[in-house]
Amino acid sequence: MKNVLVIGSTGQIGSELTMLLRKLIPEGNIVAGYIAGAEPKGDLLESGPAELANVCKADELATIVDKYKIDTIYNLAALLSAVAESKPLLAWDIQMNGLLNILEIAKEKKCAVFTPSSIGSFGPNTPKDNTPQDTIQRPSSMYGVTKVATELLSDYYFKKFGVDTRSVRFPGLISNVTLPGGGTTDYAVDIYYSAVKGEEFVCPIKAGTFMDMMYMPDGLKAAIDIMNADPTKLIHRNAFNIASMSFDPEILYKKIKEYIPDFTMRYEFDPVRQAIADSWPNNMDDSCAREEWGWKPSYDLDSMTRSMIETLKKRFNK
Ligand code: SER
Repeated sequence: MKNVLVIGSTGQIGSELTMLLRKLIPEGNIVAGYIAGAEPKGDLLESGPAELANVCKADELATIVDKYKIDTIYNLAALLSAVAESKPLLAWDIQMNGLLNILEIAKEKKCAVFTPSSIGSFGPNTPKDNTPQDTIQRPSSMYGVTKVATELLSDYYFKKFGVDTRSVRFPGLISNVTLPGGGTTDYAVDIYYSAVKGEEFVCPIKAGTFMDMMYMPDGLKAAIDIMNADPTKLIHRNAFNIASMSFDPEILYKKIKEYIPDFTMRYEFDPVRQAIADSWPNNMDDSCAREEWGWKPSYDLDSMTRSMIETLKKRFNK
């Protein structure tokens, strides 16, 4: 991996992944791909090349791949789960037609491709606890439908055309640089912002709803390590379960209160997000990722909470 195109570089994952890749590969071209209306700013804009890279415009993507001799594409363009329920056709267009454009270019120009999958690729009849790597995937959300199809199409392009596709199933990612927006697990990010700002948090997910979650530094590590993994050791490809912690809103609230005792939270559940959350696993078994490419997270709930609060306190001068 040397010359990399990050599509969706101004989003929650992209904004941090692009900067990290520029730090790790200073000799490479790490191109920040963006769409009109979501232009990069500040460090992201100034520290390297940036190009309009709309997944629905194959010509635009092919030109960038040629111009920068791109060898690896991080395809992070997606509508998250709750917003995809309100715009299912747009979600399909971005997630599926966009992916086909990328895979075709990758086939022709010999690029490796990472397109994230998610806990959202599972559904109500998937085993909820210790969810196996290979199991039932019959999701009930449009987001989930596109994620399962992404896994299948990525494996197909690897087997049929030798395109080096690899991926992970991300848990809810908790971060403090760019807000997610439109996801079911967003509450676990928003809660920290409310706590640090001294505001009451209104939780859209019911107590007792467990989901896998992960701190962004571990998520970035996974996205990079899987692309650098020894291909001869990979039995699976699209996509690996990865896990680091699982909690419900009540456990998270109590953990934050250990550091901010005055913090308050009340519940006002959102039926769309709750139905999605109820259909997802409580916690995934990530033993295949550990065995095949040495996956190991660094953060648990306590160390993540300390880091989130410390970072946001500095940001908001609290
Ligand atoms: N974080 C995503 C969402 O909530 C799931 O991968 O939509």
